[in-house]
Amino acid sequence: MESLIGLVNRIQRACTVLGDHGGEGMSLWEALPSVAVVGGQSSGKSSVLESVVGRDFLPRGSGIVTRRPLVLQLHKTEGGQEYAEFLHAPKRRLTDFAAVRKEIQDETDRITGRSKQISNIPIHLSIYSPNVVNLTVIDLPGLTKVAVEGQPESIVEDIENMVRSYVEKPNCIILAISPANQDIATSDAIKLAREVDPSGERTFGVLTKLDLMDKGTNALDVLEGRSYRLQHPWVGIVNRSQADINKNVDMIAARRKEREYFETSPEYGHMAHKMGSEYLAKLLSKHLETVIRQRIPSIIALINKTIDELNAELDRIGRPIAVDSGAQLYTILEMCRAFDRVFKEHLD
Ligand code: GDP
Ligand code: NA
Ligand code: MG
Repeated sequence: MESLIGLVNRIQRACTVLGDHGGEGMSLWEALPSVAVVGGQSSGKSSVLESVVGRDFLPRGSGIVTRRPLVLQLHKTEGGQEYAEFLHAPKRRLTDFAAVRKEIQDETDRITGRSKQISNIPIHLSIYSPNVVNLTVIDLPGLTKVAVEGQPESIVEDIENMVRSYVEKPNCIILAISPANQDIATSDAIKLAREVDPSGERTFGVLTKLDLMDKGTNALDVLEGRSYRLQHPWVGIVNRSQADINKNVDMIAARRKEREYFETSPEYGHMAHKMGSEYLAKLLSKHLETVIRQRIPSIIALINKTIDELNAELDRIGRPIAVDSGAQLYTILEMCRAFDRVFKEHLD
């Protein structure tokens, strides 16, 4: 049976390609759960995402590097070569992840110009690999407090509004990234998460830069939930430092280093099995699967509503399959029927 997350990924892609036909109320896209990465600039968002994927492919640098939402769909394959595919360039399989990074940059510039502007229009990227877990994650621009040279004053608010538009959806799982070398009370991620998810049921707290804390201090109060309690456990992370990146330390070596860091740590050794990027990836994938399972009945209801709406629209235009819009609607209709069948199988 196809994995539930894989199925949801296919629906999300269909919604994007064909336009969202969810009708009034909650659209199909919004009904589907995904994970959004939220945090202040340079808190380690892109690094966490790369560790979860186990690949080095995101543009990085100082300032606002991520200027459009990146919807990243990870597909676990049984083997074979690892490759990436952009929705805006279907059928072009990229096996060179440096080319993936460049394409993200170029595609960002295509919409925003080479300025430091941001855009709400997402970039969709799929990665197929035996080394990933099935997961949809969205990388978002970092929350910031001041506009820099060349940016409009409104950018601070624009970014916050964009991020909020993702995380306020009840089906959004929030990956709230905070750096351990700053006071958790000042964390932009936690501030926003608390606002949109006061009970903490859909927020995963991630603490990065544990290795950069002042000597003699540790993050046990945060990691053990005493500083800020969430319903899910906090996960501590050690990403590659800028020096590691400059030295081209690869992701496999970085994961190994991270594991060693926790296993040999006097402070965190006792919780090492619940720390690190690999653990975080598994935790998220498991949670996403659970959430999707709970939502199957409402997803089926939405799909059926969509089928009804499409049928009505096709009746109205008289099923002219040769006409583009009719053919498109017909394709969505067929897809909805297929999804409906598969979801019902998963219900049993
Ligand atoms: P983003 O702006 O939130 O996407 O943050 P990045 O992932 O681009 O990271 C910003 C900088 O912090 C980069 O130079 C990273 O190498 C560094 N960094 C991120 N996480 C860690 C960490 O856990 N430890 C160390 N030492 N550096 C980190
Ligand atoms: Na950055
Ligand atoms: Mg980033």
